[in-house]
Amino acid sequence: MKNILITGGAGFIGSHVVRLFVTKHPQYHIFNLDALTYAGNLENITDIEAAANYTFIKGDIVDAAFIDQLFVKHQFDGVVHLAAESHVDRSIKDPLSFVKTNVIGTVNLLNAAKTIWNGKYEGKRFYHISTDEVYGSLGSEGLFTETTAYDPNSPYSASKASSDHFVRAYGETYGLPYVLTNCSNNYGPFHFPEKLIPLFINNIIHNKSLPVYGDGKYTRDWLYVEDHAVAIDLVFHQGKNYDTYNIGGFNEWQNIDLVKLLCKIMDAKLGRTEGTSEQLIAYVKDRPGHDLRYAIDASKINKELGWKPSVTFEQGLEKTVNWYLENQTWLNNITSGEYATYYEKQYN
Ligand code: NAD
Ligand code: TYD
Repeated sequence: MKNILITGGAGFIGSHVVRLFVTKHPQYHIFNLDALTYAGNLENITDIEAAANYTFIKGDIVDAAFIDQLFVKHQFDGVVHLAAESHVDRSIKDPLSFVKTNVIGTVNLLNAAKTIWNGKYEGKRFYHISTDEVYGSLGSEGLFTETTAYDPNSPYSASKASSDHFVRAYGETYGLPYVLTNCSNNYGPFHFPEKLIPLFINNIIHNKSLPVYGDGKYTRDWLYVEDHAVAIDLVFHQGKNYDTYNIGGFNEWQNIDLVKLLCKIMDAKLGRTEGTSEQLIAYVKDRPGHDLRYAIDASKINKELGWKPSVTFEQGLEKTVNWYLENQTWLNNITSGEYATYYEKQYN
């Protein structure tokens, strides 16, 4: 049996990746390492917590001594690294915590892997999960490819770009076998309600205003989170060492159009007259340094590994809205803070 470390597995994307790996790969023992920051929520993975091939470890990737000991103890064969501070707005208020987790945390993991693997890299792999935001902002034309130069604009994307550079540097300098992916905006179940789609679903449920930044004409490429998890599984097993793959939804939306579509779906689901939720839209002060447009060319992963998104945006958004409406306790536990007590109740 191989020991695989997944970091950030109590977060949004990480929880889907942990679920997929635990259920699809009984030949692995999955260790889910997560600090349980405000974004970490063990209620995201209650369905697999009792699995025989799963262990949760509460711990901070910034703590180098702890990370070193953990790698020595479990002799991980592979690392799937998702733990990060992930919200752009928070990075504008507190850049240093992004440097600590995203840069120093990543380097701590790289050092620990390098030490235990000690140059014997056969069957070993460090998979670093990154974002398309490292490429900066597009104008109205063009797509990000794997060779687009890095040009990050927010403290979040600068910290992710830095961590990507360190991963590649460990590959070049020490031969550490890595694979790296840059993905577009994800959406779906278990998304923390500070990000656009879950925040607005929650606000519509509670008749609260929908704060659209600036003129709402910013464009993002949206991917259903389970399709990202499938891509991660594929890249971890079939991606080439020392290579990079872009992952995206071929699905660009201006924020305001997305918000209007969401309002329409929510009105129908909640039995409200069409147009009701749109009245909640409030244009607010823009985010500083707001990137105009992200759009991914995901043809390399399509051609080389055969991956493509499995759902359309309309299908994915409908699934997402249904999930949030059926799981309002999950949402309420976050807004009340109850979710933060899960670890104490379950593990202590
Ligand atoms: P998230 O904020 O939902 O989850 C992050 C997880 O990391 C949380 O469970 C948190 O507790 C944990 N964590 C944070 N700091 C930690 C630390 N110091 N030590 C250990 N654990 C820590 O994030 P997400 O949206 O699931 O993103 C996961 C990864 O995917 C990130 O690396 C992010 O940059 C990348 N990514 C996200 C998106 C997106 O749209 N959400 C798109 C592309 C790439
Ligand atoms: P977000 O979900 O924070 O993801 P990211 O900034 O990583 O792309 O935001 C998606 C888009 O929605 C982005 O252009 C900012 C915008 N946005 C709003 O207009 N209002 C909001 O309240 C939030 C959270 C985001």
